[in-house]
Amino acid sequence: ENEEQKKMFHAMDLAARFYHHLLLHEKHGRIARQYLEKRQVHIETIKEFQIGFAPPSDRDLLLRFLTRRQFSVDLLERIGLVITRTSSFQNTSFDRFRGRIIFPIHDSQGRVIAFGGRSLGSQEPRYLNSPESPLFYKGNHLFNLHRARKSVRKKQQAIIFEGYMDVIAAWQAGIHTCLATLGTALTEQQAKVIRRNTESVILCYDADRAGLSAAERGSEVLKRVDCTVKIAQMPEKMDPDDYIRRYGASQFQEEVLAGAQTLTAFKLEMLKKNYHLQDEDDRIKYLTAAIDFISELPLIIEQDHYLRRIADEFQMPLDVLKAEQRRMKRRKK
Ligand code: GTP
Ligand code: MN
Ligand code: MN
Ligand code: MN
Ligand code: MN
Repeated sequence: ENEEQKKMFHAMDLAARFYHHLLLHEKHGRIARQYLEKRQVHIETIKEFQIGFAPPSDRDLLLRFLTRRQFSVDLLERIGLVITRTSSFQNTSFDRFRGRIIFPIHDSQGRVIAFGGRSLGSQEPRYLNSPESPLFYKGNHLFNLHRARKSVRKKQQAIIFEGYMDVIAAWQAGIHTCLATLGTALTEQQAKVIRRNTESVILCYDADRAGLSAAERGSEVLKRVDCTVKIAQMPEKMDPDDYIRRYGASQFQEEVLAGAQTLTAFKLEMLKKNYHLQDEDDRIKYLTAAIDFISELPLIIEQDHYLRRIADEFQMPLDVLKAEQRRMKRRKK
């Protein structure tokens, strides 16, 4: 860590304090505090996460605050706090974040390296993150790692969410093993970081199409570094933050986390959703599709395991399912 980097970390730390101060500021921060109150983020949580606010009014509030403290515009630009627009007449520099709730992002040692900024309403983009910088390669870091690490090691479990707000809601509800990727798919590097702390991972992504495919891909990446992965399922269209706010933490533990299942079981559930199981024809169709899917699994013991589950669920002799599987294989040849 050279002098330059030291300065960058220092500027980031001051920026986090500044935004946090503005959020707590009687006048400047009122709309932000109201927004967070509506989302049921408590004041202790705001302080714990050092959540901040970049007011919409002033286009260079942070810039002025930091240049007064002898940080160069060039440095502030390189860590993504400031944007400079160049024209033939002049250069104008202004703050990257304005009119946004600010979530500081830390490295594993707890130093601020970036920010996530959420608009107060539905203005797009809803989230604006710091660009990559000498301090911040987003594929290397996980939101909340420095806070969660101790619990992750002790409980030997990590829960991965999609969003900052999911982590914050879970943490506030007493679930302290939660992490989030930073608006991208889980990378191999992030998976390795997780694996250093625990083998067992629960992916708890939004119950929509994007969340589903993120869970599939994330699970592959984690398995490659020898993690054991389970997928937790939320009711349609909800995310963990919505769920915890609506049903509370203990229900989240019991219904969502405790019900987490392997990727294969999860895919079978998904497949099932395409059929009306009350309908006899559809039951048969589902069973056929399920056997077909199970036949593609790499291990015979795995195939056996899931065939048994289906046999139990539909109260059918295992032999019958296996005979069907053989028949289907013959027909494919
Ligand atoms: P809210 O509950 O609406 O605040 O959002 P969320 O936390 O549920 O986020 P969502 O599920 O929409 O997205 C998950 C994560 O993806 C967010 O926490 C961000 O990190 C990232 N993300 C979402 N929308 C955007 C966007 O418009 N731009 C960028 N860069 N990232 C985004
Ligand atoms: Mn989503
Ligand atoms: Mn979304
Ligand atoms: Mn979400
Ligand atoms: Mn959400």
